[in-house]
Amino acid sequence: MESSTASEKKKLKRREILEKKKATDQILKAASAQIDHLASFPSFRCFNRNGHGDKLSHCTKQYIQNLLKVNMEGPYGSEWAIEEKVKRREMVAPEARYIFVCRNANDMMDSAPIPLLGFLHYRFTLEEEMPVLYLYELQLDSSVQGKGLGKFLMELIELIAQEKWMSAVVLTVQKSNSSAMKFYRSKLRYVVSSISPSRVNPFAGVEKKYEILCKTFDHEAKAVLEVKKQTPCQNCFQYHLTTLKVLD
Ligand SMILES: CC(C)(COP(=O)(O)OP(=O)(O)OC[C@H]1O[C@@H](n2cnc3c(N)ncnc32)[C@H](O)[C@@H]1OP(=O)(O)O)[C@@H](O)C(=O)NCCC(=O)NCCS
Repeated sequence: MESSTASEKKKLKRREILEKKKATDQILKAASAQIDHLASFPSFRCFNRNGHGDKLSHCTKQYIQNLLKVNMEGPYGSEWAIEEKVKRREMVAPEARYIFVCRNANDMMDSAPIPLLGFLHYRFTLEEEMPVLYLYELQLDSSVQGKGLGKFLMELIELIAQEKWMSAVVLTVQKSNSSAMKFYRSKLRYVVSSISPSRVNPFAGVEKKYEILCKTFDHEAKAVLEVKKQTPCQNCFQYHLTTLKVLD
């Protein structure tokens, strides 16, 4: 009798997990299926146009590559040559979504080359089994930096994420990019995620040149993506401290 109750409970739990996974998959699918994420936010339109990674025109790809080089070669240093190739591949992935910033609302992306001022590259994906909006790039031309546009675009991306039922916005920043780190952490209140290398393994994480930051929108995401997990490595850290104390 007891074992049949236990097996019922197990079945129920399995059904719950499957239903949750199905719901999460549906959320991601619905978020990715919408063609125009600005449709829900008409007041943000004056800066932007959007598109897919695999539909970028030649001159838009050229623009993205140039801006990435100007802005990111410094923070990446000697790793730029490798990273540039990675970013070129990421740029054209079908799941890559873009919002472009241009000076005039009537500028057409795919006609003659137009003066773009920046772009966002984001994707809907899973982190720790939770649907998140992963911000791959936020890049602005130097002429429009420090004028509030970055903050405005981050507000927009957070609205899109919440409207699409994402649990968080997640992004990666180079540790050497101190101004971007200040922008996200001090100004926008992003926190180092528990999935960031420095939190997963504080010893090995020191070697990594980037942090993963996040802003969560619900308790479950906060518990998983923000709250520190007890890892074997932290035990190892405690062990070292104890040893030092004994030696003292
Ligand atoms: C990082 C970046 C996206 C920030 O956008 P931005 O438009 O320049 O920033 P904003 O003007 O919106 O700044 C918003 C707030 O952050 C502050 N801030 C911006 N840059 C800062 C910096 N370098 N140091 C400290 N604070 C900064 C501003 O003072 C502002 O605060 P306020 O609202 O109190 O005035 C932009 O500068 C950029 O494209 N940099 C190069 C590419 C890059 O590093 N991208 C990030 C890769 S992860």
